[in-house]
Amino acid sequence: MSRIAYVNGRYLPHRQARVHVEDRGYQFADGVYEVCEVRDGQLIDERRHIARLERSLAELKMASPMSRAALGAVLRETVRRNRVNDGLVYVQVTRGVARRDHAFPPPGTLPSLVVTARRFDVAANEKIAAEGIGVITVPEDRWARVDIKSVSLLPNVLAKQSAREQGAREAWYVDRDGYVTEGASSNAWIVNRDGKLITRALGRDILPGITRSVLFDVIKAHGLQFEERPFTVAEAQTAREAFITSATQLVMPVVRIDGRPVANGAPGLIASALRRDYHAYAETAG
Ligand code: PDD
Repeated sequence: MSRIAYVNGRYLPHRQARVHVEDRGYQFADGVYEVCEVRDGQLIDERRHIARLERSLAELKMASPMSRAALGAVLRETVRRNRVNDGLVYVQVTRGVARRDHAFPPPGTLPSLVVTARRFDVAANEKIAAEGIGVITVPEDRWARVDIKSVSLLPNVLAKQSAREQGAREAWYVDRDGYVTEGASSNAWIVNRDGKLITRALGRDILPGITRSVLFDVIKAHGLQFEERPFTVAEAQTAREAFITSATQLVMPVVRIDGRPVANGAPGLIASALRRDYHAYAETAG
């Protein structure tokens, strides 16, 4: 089936979908994005993802390309045209096309909007979750505003590549004090010896993950204890469980950190239960 992409007002065949060479996303990575899960043809947590997109835009003094309702309609139409049942929808907004100059383009420059959608192999993802993944740790080398979901992802690209070269699927950033901030494309969690879930508190040093926020509802419903605080690599390596969260990986057990097994090296019971129950607490657009 041919894929369709939405580009600045038009639905185009994927191979004809292009942006201008002077798009500021291309020139300066001057743009923001969102990734939203699609399950049974429905967007998961659309409202929260669009709210975060608007926050990212506002933090960068960037105009919204269209209203919330119109953007939601474009997302759903892109999913529909690509006949995505289970997969993801990707949204990118940039500061538009203008002659290359670092400072903002002239007032009235229209933001660029691109939306794409693609399918997941659900069975393959479940197989990965049943085995768990390895993570490596890398020094935190990103800018000081990673709470903004910017398309400027060079450190994340390099970290993910290092992970792949070492047979792992994610890289955890470690700050100067030895504490894990988050993954290259996920939030990081552990379950300590007392069965308490621990993840770093929100701030400018992590992305406010949507999956992370929904998971607190799942955790509370399960009557589990949690604490928002930083944890060290050593604490993670001696934890009972570790896992990551993101819209595409959901709750993904971590079974190795820098080559050392977490507990017995198998996915933990808590992570697996939270993964199983996640969608009962996420919002599905009607
Ligand atoms: N990444 N931290 C970072 C750096 C991320 O890139 C992501 C998501 C998350 C988790 O956020 P959420 O739960 O809202 O997906 C945390 C997306 C999936 C990506 O870049 O593909």
